[in-house]
Amino acid sequence: MSAIDIRAAKGLRGEVIPPPDKSISHRAVMLASIADGRSIVRNFLYAHDPVSTLNAMRSLGINIDDSGKGEIVVHGKGLRGLSEPSDVIDCGNSGTTMRLISGILSGNPFFSVLTGDSSLRTRPMARVIEPLRQMGGRISARQSDRYAPLAITGGGLRAIDFSMPVASAQVKSCVMLAGLYAEGTTTITEPLKSRDHTESMLAAMGGSIKIDGLSVKVSGGRELAPFDLAVPADFSSAAFFIAAALMIKNSELLVRNVGINPTRTGFLDALSKMGAGVEIVDRRIISGEPVADILCRTASGLKAAVIGKELMPSMIDEFPILCILATQADGVTEIRGAGELRVKESDRIKAMAEGLGAMGVDVQEHEDGLSIKGPALLKGSSIKSCADHRIAMSFAVASLAAEGSTYIDDTSCVDISFPGFISLLKGLAA
Ligand code: S3P
Repeated sequence: MSAIDIRAAKGLRGEVIPPPDKSISHRAVMLASIADGRSIVRNFLYAHDPVSTLNAMRSLGINIDDSGKGEIVVHGKGLRGLSEPSDVIDCGNSGTTMRLISGILSGNPFFSVLTGDSSLRTRPMARVIEPLRQMGGRISARQSDRYAPLAITGGGLRAIDFSMPVASAQVKSCVMLAGLYAEGTTTITEPLKSRDHTESMLAAMGGSIKIDGLSVKVSGGRELAPFDLAVPADFSSAAFFIAAALMIKNSELLVRNVGINPTRTGFLDALSKMGAGVEIVDRRIISGEPVADILCRTASGLKAAVIGKELMPSMIDEFPILCILATQADGVTEIRGAGELRVKESDRIKAMAEGLGAMGVDVQEHEDGLSIKGPALLKGSSIKSCADHRIAMSFAVASLAAEGSTYIDDTSCVDISFPGFISLLKGLAA
């Protein structure tokens, strides 16, 4: 555990390249492991979460060469090449590792157990267990099949038609990955579109996949081709710098090389509802994903807005930093339809309500979101990160706009997605 003290900044200036995308890093290692041959993943994210995936695939018998410079070479063994792990697989804090790998393991004819840290062991797993069981997977878990550890004996899957009750890229990807091993064509339909990196990568690998609006169809049994992929910077990490530049006077920041896949950038739509613009420059495509640089300047006249459930899947991880930005908007910003945030690495609705309250903000907690009154004069305070990386980073940004100094109790959790965040932020603000 490490605590920090941050004071107000005079302006953020310069350029920054956020760390590589976490979602793409996870998927690249998993998919390369079940591809037929050698794949290269450039600009892999060395943070706790994707490293959990790297270690998990190694424990399933995959050789991964690691240059230590962000480039990894994965020696894929094909769909049927994984082997039974000799120990429990530890997914750490990573819901993506646990939920996606459970799809792959359900298709493989051996026994495995997945566990994680105290946060991951309280996160809902029935959402993946139920469809995997419908497919014929033998999978059980703690507390009447709700929580990890999960025990899986895979093999013999059949295709299903699955309508997802909540929009979740983790659940969708889990069932798609299981679908690669099933007999027949699995159809997955989501209520709203969540991030589609798994779909893009599988299509690029020659997988049998069809997308029709909110439905994805995956047919089993087809071998996947290896690939050479460069991971763009993570939009979810970029969002902290975008918000900081908008909130803090005298700021002009170029956030470079950022993935701007539209299933990830609902935060930009929320910003435009609040009257805040950023400039998207030099749009390009890198390894099949849209990428750009984002020029952000101090916003004048941020206004309150109503942000509803339609935007939530495409800004699911940006909820905490959007709450911080809302403190500087004129009027009451209402963020609703965000009930999923209660079951993230922490209960993010509660964590934000408590932290903002401690900084003197008039905030009202709802079951599915928050109402935040602005503009508020943020007061330096003592904040609990709840060991949640995005809560710690959001309040670090808030501290730069606060009067006095802010103490955040545990910032070691930022290493889950963004090692070096605090010193980078302080450096830009200096
Ligand atoms: C992720 C999907 C989202 C997101 C998480 C990463 C992914 O979770 O919150 O940080 O890589 O698929 P849900 O699918 O549970 O909403």
